[in-house]
Amino acid sequence: MNVGLTTPILPANEAAVASAARYLAQGGLIAFPTETVYGLGADAANPGAIARLYAAKGRPAFNPLIAHVGDFAAGQKIARFDATATALAQAFWPGPLTLVLPKSQNCPVADLATAGLDTVAVRVPAHPVARAILRAFGGPVVAPSANLSGHVSPTTAEHVHHDLAGLIDLIVDGGAVNVGVESTIVGCFEAPMLLRPGGLPRAEIERVLGRALVQPPEDADNDSGQPLAPGMLASHYAPRTRVRLNARGIEAGEALLAFGPGVVDGVETANAVMNLSPRGDLNEAAANLFGYLRTLDTRGARAIAVMPVPHHGLGEAINDRLRRAAVDRD
Ligand code: TXA
Ligand code: MG
Repeated sequence: MNVGLTTPILPANEAAVASAARYLAQGGLIAFPTETVYGLGADAANPGAIARLYAAKGRPAFNPLIAHVGDFAAGQKIARFDATATALAQAFWPGPLTLVLPKSQNCPVADLATAGLDTVAVRVPAHPVARAILRAFGGPVVAPSANLSGHVSPTTAEHVHHDLAGLIDLIVDGGAVNVGVESTIVGCFEAPMLLRPGGLPRAEIERVLGRALVQPPEDADNDSGQPLAPGMLASHYAPRTRVRLNARGIEAGEALLAFGPGVVDGVETANAVMNLSPRGDLNEAAANLFGYLRTLDTRGARAIAVMPVPHHGLGEAINDRLRRAAVDRD
């Protein structure tokens, strides 16, 4: 394995897919594109591989992982789908939706990957490279975003290399991802619950359900006790530079993360300016979000001032990630 040496980046072709599947079978770690963000994959049934995955990311071990499978039938081998879960899977898979479901009786996903919960998070990604790797490997693959814990999620192979070179075996380069924020997570509990807003807008899910998704309890969003989505630590998507939300003007030494055609006071004094979508398109903004945060984080600004982003469509996921990025971490 390549751990300890520098990690190769291979363009996504048949040879790279075969090599990725081989590494997975040997307990290795590979980064690959999904339609949402790049994932860091390991064999979901191999506790040793999963332990290495947590170590490579520097991730707290209580944070459970998403098991990626090739299709609905493969999902049914690891989890139990009731009528609601089946309807959501049929409407949105493959795609940016993760379902938290009761584990099946002989669920092969290691307890280490589910943090000892009796539920498992399952998703069928839509990206052709992810699908090819899942097909070639033939089993569930756990894959958190392929970044160091606490950093922003990677949307290009270069982002992955920046965080994880020398710590993982292979990076499969499928170009920039097209969604740009992680999957939406729905807990299929008595009442379906929105555990994490993400790449599939809430309204589309509610249309299929014919009812509103319930919200997690207020206190589920911290790292004390037993939160419903333990991964949703208050500061999870974090550049090192301080982030200031809802900026209507620029203060001395700040960089600006803009949105839409409007301008803010003092923009000419900004240390750097990037616009998530000058025409105000939320899908374009989601695709640019993590890359722009990374770039602005390198400018030595006193803070990153972020203009308000509307809350509809993918705006809910964008604002969720921005709020996490803005949590004071010291
Ligand atoms: O788009 C995505 O979902 C990406 C790509 C790579 O597929 N993956 C991703 O994984 O974002 P990660 O590990 O960064 O986020 C997994 C989330 C965490 O918030 C975790 O707490 C939650 O899923 N999760 C996993 N299993 C769970 C469970 N059994 N119950 C509740 N939440 C769970
Ligand atoms: Mg992540």
